[in-house]
Amino acid sequence: MASEEVESAVQDIVKKYYGETLQATTDLKTSACCVANSPHPLIKAALSNVPDEILMKFYGCGNPVPLGILGLTVLDLGSGTGRDCYVAAQLVSGSGKVIGIDMTESQLEVANKYKKEFIESMYFPDNILEFKHGYIEHIHEAGIQDNSIDLIISNCVINLSSRKDLVLEGCFRALKDGGEMYFSDVYCDRRLSEEVRAHKVLWGECLAGALYVEDFRELCKKVGFIDPRALEAEEILIHDPELKKVTGDAKFFSITYRLFKLKDLESNGENYGHTARYLGTMRGLERKYDLDGKFSFPKNKVVKIDGNTAEILTNSWLSSHFAVEGTKDTHLGSFDSLSIIFGKEIKANAQGCCGPKDCPEPTEKNKTEGCCTPNNAEKEPCCTPNNAENKDCCTSEKEPSLPKEPCCSEKTEDAPPVPRREKQPADEEASCIIS
Ligand SMILES: C[S@@+](CC[C@H](N)C(=O)[O-])C[C@H]1O[C@@H](n2cnc3c(N)ncnc32)[C@H](O)[C@@H]1O
Repeated sequence: MASEEVESAVQDIVKKYYGETLQATTDLKTSACCVANSPHPLIKAALSNVPDEILMKFYGCGNPVPLGILGLTVLDLGSGTGRDCYVAAQLVSGSGKVIGIDMTESQLEVANKYKKEFIESMYFPDNILEFKHGYIEHIHEAGIQDNSIDLIISNCVINLSSRKDLVLEGCFRALKDGGEMYFSDVYCDRRLSEEVRAHKVLWGECLAGALYVEDFRELCKKVGFIDPRALEAEEILIHDPELKKVTGDAKFFSITYRLFKLKDLESNGENYGHTARYLGTMRGLERKYDLDGKFSFPKNKVVKIDGNTAEILTNSWLSSHFAVEGTKDTHLGSFDSLSIIFGKEIKANAQGCCGPKDCPEPTEKNKTEGCCTPNNAEKEPCCTPNNAENKDCCTSEKEPSLPKEPCCSEKTEDAPPVPRREKQPADEEASCIIS
């Protein structure tokens, strides 16, 4: 099937599921569309102003409405009956705007049913909330202009598209520079089998279309969202035995991602010595701001950050809430320690030929008796359990006039020669690093 045909076949399945099969959240067969953690008290307060029918037809999997969005223009992809739009409208307040897009008429009907009454009861301007019929793969056709949106939110929808590339590309175009996609969706720990991907109920339940999380990250980068940041994640449980059988060992997660549209992001977190201080200025987040799973900012505390985070906090919609210090003039290496990059701990080289690579784990014996102990630096070449292979580079057998190096191993035969030098008093203290 051509990709357009697949796109429209999937849309038909999903429309039927949300337009006819499901009547309320309780009709769902898995927790995929309702795993959202308890929301922030300000969101809870906003939810108390959302009409009951809308709340009962909530099929989201997260809390993708960030705080601190006063005055922003927000777009909700796959807004359903509009719960998140009604919440976001209260946060952007009179100076902002919220647009919801959905392809299922019956969902839009419910969303629109309460709009006027809600706006009047809140004393908001008429145009604060708008629901459009449209497809998330083609938001431009639904009237969303390029570079017009500050924040795109979405709750358990993008997995339902067979053309996630088009969705992300359209979002990248629609966002202003410094704008952000902040959305919760379903991901998988592996690429799903054809059997799962062809299962209609699993499509409707937001599982069959879930991307392997690494493929999703790659797609983001390809589109231009160079540094996707995960904020929250929760495993989705499949209780239905039949669906469980089809999905097998695959694990599904609801993850809230943050994708910033910024020109100067790099593919890795690089260290330039930047710092940032959160000013405590977001309503509801006066004490701390969590940017993602890695960077958290207690109010007024100076936090070391990588170059990308400096870029985000300087040039995105978050910028007025942070004081960022530093430039990119001097590169100080990778922000993450090398042990993360190489996947194992890397120890410092103690001296000359006796680096950690060359030092097997010291035995109890040579810890106490060999030259690894500070007092015995010259006693015997150390670090191999029996010292058998160390003679060449470590003992004075070949060049008796040289002082012994404190420790060596067999690998040093291939290593560049250790420069000769006079024996120093500190040599007495030299030893392998034992940690
Ligand atoms: C799981 S529901 C989530 C609805 C809403 N975000 C919420 O949290 O209640 C998925 C919604 O996305 C809409 N949808 C799915 N695929 C879509 C597409 N390709 N274009 C537009 N809307 C889509 C469906 O009509 C449905 O309302």
